[in-house]
Parts: sequence; structure tokens; C-alpha cells
Amino acid sequence: MAQQNIYDNDKFFEAFKGLRADEINFNDLIETPILLGMMPDLKDKRVLDVGCGMGQHAKQYSDMGALSVLGTDISEKMLGFARENNSADNIEYMRLPFEDLEKLDGQFDVVTSSLAFDYAEDFCDVLKKINALLVPGGKLVFSTSHPISTAYDGVYDRYTRTEEGKRLYANLHNYNIEGLRKFRWCVDDYEVYHRRFSTLVNNIVSAGFIIEECQESNLPAEVIEKYPDKFGGLYHHPDFIFFRCGKHPA
Ligand SMILES: C[S@@+](CC[C@H](N)C(=O)[O-])C[C@H]1O[C@@H](n2cnc3c(N)ncnc32)[C@H](O)[C@@H]1O
Repeated sequence: MAQQNIYDNDKFFEAFKGLRADEINFNDLIETPILLGMMPDLKDKRVLDVGCGMGQHAKQYSDMGALSVLGTDISEKMLGFARENNSADNIEYMRLPFEDLEKLDGQFDVVTSSLAFDYAEDFCDVLKKINALLVPGGKLVFSTSHPISTAYDGVYDRYTRTEEGKRLYANLHNYNIEGLRKFRWCVDDYEVYHRRFSTLVNNIVSAGFIIEECQESNLPAEVIEKYPDKFGGLYHHPDFIFFRCGKHPA
């Protein structure tokens, strides 16, 4: 299975770190509140954060009372930042691509992942490995880029615009063709996997989960109007999609 580790590329890592450190960033303003709002009670739970990146979420789960948090990621640079900036006695960080999750020992009550599955070539296979790591009735809560947002090829503008440049419509490029998409984001050839909405749902169900909740990213109109250049696209399409899934009880 193809794997990419763009976060260990110096230029990409520095650019991503800058975006994440920006006071007004998509993660803290849009993604995290929705993800945390969908979490079950983490008190005394064993939590696995897949694609944990710089560890911001792992630290939040620890602060929310988790018994233990294991953060796994493919990128040494991201894990290095996490160990330095988001550590706690009950957090462990480990270099492990999600394609190899079957190598983990132990069971988890909650598995979570934020914006990492965009890089999974075989999403269903990763979900099956996560399902095997969960206790019966355990939960998987994750976010990923919205299929409308990954139906993009970087050649055309994401939007049809007025002559003044105002966004009129979001453009969908070959929504029905799934697979690798390349466009410019921090680097020229940024790569993600585009999947249709039905594929996300069917992969989740095939991997043995019940879908309990689905959310699409949005912001209050007053926030969008305050930062029209940054968030104006949210009127046209959601950037992220979120699922809370339950493993079937034994
Ligand atoms: C957009 S970042 C999100 C990081 C973190 N979850 C957050 O929300 O801040 C995506 C993360 O997925 C990780 N990733 C990409 N491919 C991976 C793979 N095959 N296995 C594990 N992690 C991977 C990247 O290294 C990166 O840390």
C-alpha cells in the first residue's frame, strides 16, 4: 500500500507548523470544537489517537481525564514536536504508520483521528485494523477532508467567481472519480485521496462499525463575515466531515 510522509519534508513541516500556530486557524476554530463535541466521556478511557501529529489533541484527551493516550504518526518531525510540546505522564507517542496498526498490542476504549485519513490509500483496511483494536462497544471518532473539498485538481480555481473575485459557486472536479489528487497546499504536489461520500459510509460499515453521528464543518455567519477571505468558502462547501462510529457490542 502506498504511504507518503510529506510532514517530514522540511519545507512542508515549517509551512504546516506556521498555519497551525496562526491564531485564526482551521483546526482550532473549525475542526477541534466539532470533533471534541462528538467524543464520548473520556474519563478513565484508554485512547488511541491515529495520525496524532503535533499532539495537540492527545494533550486535550489527557486533560479530559483519559486513563492513557497513545499517539501514533508516520512523521518523526510531528512526533518530535508532540514530545516536546504536548507531553504528560499518561501520553505516549510512537512512530507507526496507520497501515501497520495491527502491530499494536492491547485494546482501546476510544480511537480517534483528526484529518489523517486523507492520506490512506486503503481507508477500509485501516478502519478494519482500528476495529480490531477496540473493545466491543468501543468508539471511533474521526474527521477527514470532506469529499466535496477533495474533488479538486488544482488546475482550475476552486470557485467560479464574479469579475471582482467574489466566490459565486464551488467547483467540483470529477467528483465521481476516486483516488489520488494532487494540488498546491504548502508544497506544489500535495497529495490526498479523494473518496465519494458513499464510499466513506460503506467503508465504515464494511469495517464493522455502526454510524452514530455525522457532522460537516460550519461556522456561525458572524465568524465567516469577520474573516471573509479565510472562511468565505464555508458558505459554499464544508471542508471537513466527521463521524462517530461504534464497534458492535460482543
Ligand atoms: C493534517 S495532520 C493532522 C495532525 C493532527 N491529527 C491534528 O489534528 O493536528 C495529518 C497527520 O497525519 C499523519 N499521517 C499521514 N500519513 C500517515 C500514515 N500513513 N500513518 C500515520 N500517520 C500519517 C501526518 O504525519 C500528520 O501528522
